[in-house]
Amino acid sequence: MRIIKLNAIDSTNSYLKQLSVDETLADNTIVVANYQTKGRGQMGTTWVSDDSKNLMFSVLKDVSWLQADKSFYISISVSLALIKALEQFYIPKLSIKWPNDILSENTKICGVLIENVIKQNQLNSTIIGIGLNVNQTNFSNLPKASSLRLISGQVFSLDEVMLAIIQNIEYYFTLLKDEKYQELKDVYQNLLFRKDKPSTFTNAEGLMFSGFIKSVSNSGSLQVLLEDDIIKEFDLKEISLLY
Ligand code: BTN
Repeated sequence: MRIIKLNAIDSTNSYLKQLSVDETLADNTIVVANYQTKGRGQMGTTWVSDDSKNLMFSVLKDVSWLQADKSFYISISVSLALIKALEQFYIPKLSIKWPNDILSENTKICGVLIENVIKQNQLNSTIIGIGLNVNQTNFSNLPKASSLRLISGQVFSLDEVMLAIIQNIEYYFTLLKDEKYQELKDVYQNLLFRKDKPSTFTNAEGLMFSGFIKSVSNSGSLQVLLEDDIIKEFDLKEISLLY
């Protein structure tokens, strides 16, 4: 495992992506930073984090063995690895807010940005960017955010938490390589935030509707039970859960 530690960088995902273009990188190359000047979140959002308080890192994994139509299983495996690692630190009431936000009770403690590298129409590698709120205690503009410290009262070693996450990613990727798709998906679905609970969503036009989260499709769409027993599939741009 090669770990590149940086004091500050625009984004660990962007840095690792560029490095993978410049040189051939070994599986499990990791870039971790104390601070990001342009931390990136899902769907073009930004990821803001205090200096040196939280984990901001990216892991490069070789996924040349994975069929492109199974790429959502990368997201599933990473989510399960994060849950398992956080359980090892006794963080309570963990769930996955589809597709891969990690919540404790109903506050977000971790976000994931997965960027796949496709070569000759095939999956080649994936860059898994993880932002985990560890020791930060002030989230003044983010009412739904929390940290391991706020939840547990403890101060954590960033290196220790990162190592636990990396080891768990390694473990869940062996399950993925062994094609344990159904098992991975079953565990993932059972951990979904608000699964089978009456929930309110907004659609792409901002209109509210209600339904029950049931499961995910193999391609990663969220399956929601609507009125009249209709199950509809939504992708990330089409639905947002109000909570
Ligand atoms: C999200 O919740 O929208 C995903 C946030 C992902 C943030 C991490 S921090 C490390 C890595 N580098 C980035 O620029 N983003 C990811």
